[in-house]
Amino acid sequence: MNNIQFDNNRRLKHFISIEGLKRDFLLKILKVAQSFISSQDHKIRKVPLLRGKTVINLFFEPSTRTRTTFEIAAKRLSADVINFNINASSSSKGESLTDMLHNLEAMHCDMFVVRHASSGAAHFFAEHVSPDTHIVNAGDGCHEHPTQAMLDVLTIQQHKGDFAPLRVAIVGDILHSRVARSLIHALSTLGVMEIRAVGPKTLLPNNLENLGAHPYHNLHEGIRDVDVIVMLRLQRERMSSALLPSEHEYFQQFGMTQSLLEEAHPDAIVMHPGPINRGVEMTSSVADCPRSVILQQVSNGIAVRMAVMAIAMGVPLSVPEY
Ligand code: NCD
Repeated sequence: MNNIQFDNNRRLKHFISIEGLKRDFLLKILKVAQSFISSQDHKIRKVPLLRGKTVINLFFEPSTRTRTTFEIAAKRLSADVINFNINASSSSKGESLTDMLHNLEAMHCDMFVVRHASSGAAHFFAEHVSPDTHIVNAGDGCHEHPTQAMLDVLTIQQHKGDFAPLRVAIVGDILHSRVARSLIHALSTLGVMEIRAVGPKTLLPNNLENLGAHPYHNLHEGIRDVDVIVMLRLQRERMSSALLPSEHEYFQQFGMTQSLLEEAHPDAIVMHPGPINRGVEMTSSVADCPRSVILQQVSNGIAVRMAVMAIAMGVPLSVPEY
């Protein structure tokens, strides 16, 4: 799956998955992303790195944060960006995906940012585009969401510094979560001490130990002494059958409250990729509390996506090579 991400000179060409990427490479993305965030005012300035390049956002699923931050990131890099409207496109007239792709390529597009409900969609696109076109995965089914994982680990790094001593709990619907899969790969590659996957049996995959995460079915135990808590949404649109009695019951067992937070490390941060369902995975008071870094994750999405797009397009960057 990963070979397709690199060209013959071992340069990143497509960004499809975290699985298989090396630690130094993840650290390089973090370093480039951090370099885009100005140290004085935490704002991101416009740079001419992708001037003359065209990026097309190809989102077959709804998105607020991911689509918008990809667009802002491309604009900050001075690329021309097109948000392709799938619903108003010829795909509704029966045009095949590959035909649609080749037609868009004929318009001299350099990069497609792809979100699709099918696992493997971004890989499929990478296999079918011409050699000079780049694909970035913005979430494929239940498989991976690699830029989300990178913005999550950047946020963790900004708060915690070193990854090695950390305990991280990922809570909720891990079975259907591309965010969780990518994040578990990233955290284990970066060498965090402990990754816990916390949720009801029906929402945890059975290969967790192979991924490097330990399953917990009790929230109290799962978050005890952890440094980072990542809450996930119940992804009903990806559930093929009723895996939960009710949202109310789920909240009783796995919803995060202020009093539960006391069981984590006193400096623990709370994260969520969004969109949040307040009162289902966490209370509003947790979502808005000082330990919540949820909006910082959103902001970091811009710098991380700039880094990934710049690296994939092969522009020279003034950070040390690994
Ligand atoms: C996630 C996604 O779409 O995978 N959201 C996001 O990209 N910020 C998580 C979700 O939908 O729950």
